[in-house]
Amino acid sequence: MNLYSIALENDKNDSLSIFKERFFNNKNEIYLDGNSLGKLPLETLDDLNNTIKNQWGKKLIRSWNEHWLDLNDRVNLKMSKLINADPNEVLVGESTSVNLYKLLYGLINSNKYNKNLITDSLNFPSDLYIMEGLKEFTTSKKIQIVKYISDLESDLNLLKESIKHSPGIICLSLVSYKSSWLYPMLELNEFAEKNSSIIVWDCSHAIGVIDIDVKKTKTKIALGCTYKFLNGGPGSPSFIYVNNKLIGDISNPIQGWFGHEKPFDFSENYKPYNGIKKFEAGTPSVISLSAIEKGIDMTLEAGIKNISSKSKNLGDFLINLIKTELEVLGFEITSPLNSRNRGSHVSIKHKEAWRICKLLIKGKVNRKIIIPDFRPNNTIRLGLAPLYVSYMDLFESIERIKEIVNNKEFLSIDNSKESVT
Ligand SMILES: Cc1ncc(COP(=O)(O)O)c(C=O)c1O
Repeated sequence: MNLYSIALENDKNDSLSIFKERFFNNKNEIYLDGNSLGKLPLETLDDLNNTIKNQWGKKLIRSWNEHWLDLNDRVNLKMSKLINADPNEVLVGESTSVNLYKLLYGLINSNKYNKNLITDSLNFPSDLYIMEGLKEFTTSKKIQIVKYISDLESDLNLLKESIKHSPGIICLSLVSYKSSWLYPMLELNEFAEKNSSIIVWDCSHAIGVIDIDVKKTKTKIALGCTYKFLNGGPGSPSFIYVNNKLIGDISNPIQGWFGHEKPFDFSENYKPYNGIKKFEAGTPSVISLSAIEKGIDMTLEAGIKNISSKSKNLGDFLINLIKTELEVLGFEITSPLNSRNRGSHVSIKHKEAWRICKLLIKGKVNRKIIIPDFRPNNTIRLGLAPLYVSYMDLFESIERIKEIVNNKEFLSIDNSKESVT
């Protein structure tokens, strides 16, 4: 069977294909950037409309008691189900960057671990900046960034050696933003535990698409963005998970009133909430929180195991396409080939990657617009959001890339770089 027929057949047998129509779609567009910003679920439109018009518009301040104080609890509970955490171990609110600072600072201050901070060169820049900013609170006054030979995958032996040599607090991205490398969570958590260390997992590129089970993987702390595969909307708040046994040991460095035991007593002295809610600081972003709910609902309804399994199949199919059609045109796959080590995007390199990206997004008469994203240097990331990406979407995207290169269409585009994608 050729790859076109395989795409048709796979789509026909895809039990998740029914979810696509529940998103705001543009018929002339193939969206392969759900690893950066997920699509808008149609039910979110209604929810948001209700939150804004009825709850905010009509009921104003009364909506705190009638709706909004419960909203956070509801979203926290749903997130906890998604990662098999206990309900009182998960909190949704504030950005991943701010939460990472709070959790790392809290861990350093807890004196439970050596104050050595370790990360690696596959981690997301914001995480590196935050760790860099925390170095004055650490023993060594420097952050150890384990550097690997390639951007593609981690060298687990090297990472483990570093942990063994300088036990402490390690921060890793479960799925690397560039190459899509996926870490063996259980293996590393067990290794860290044996070496008196703890791993803080940034799950931004994994949540909603990888089956994360915090109990099975013995995870102690995790956090991540909800605006990617969870389709929570631009800048939607991140989630944090802290294992029950650790919550009491870690303090929130931002002692705001929403982390207080009784915020509405307005007492003069700060007394932290006895539980995960102590990691709140200010008023929750109600509109963003209400935008997340339907995205999480849909993920729970589809089942994370089904989503994760389709993600792997889409990735395998795409890699097969790239190998067959694009490698001869100078493209190189810079993501793991084995789905066991891969998240839900596939990265490819080409010397004309930037101009190819621009052309895909610009579109052409009788061709669909294709939206991937670009990361320096010369990397195109193709995001595989299983709730709305089909096998035929991938087939058509690769056909279009092939056409752009074969016809040297990129020569018509200037090489200046601006914008997000
Ligand atoms: C892996 C990872 N960590 C952290 C962040 C930063 O998230 P935020 O902007 O919500 O702080 C991102 C953003 O894309 C990310 O991909």
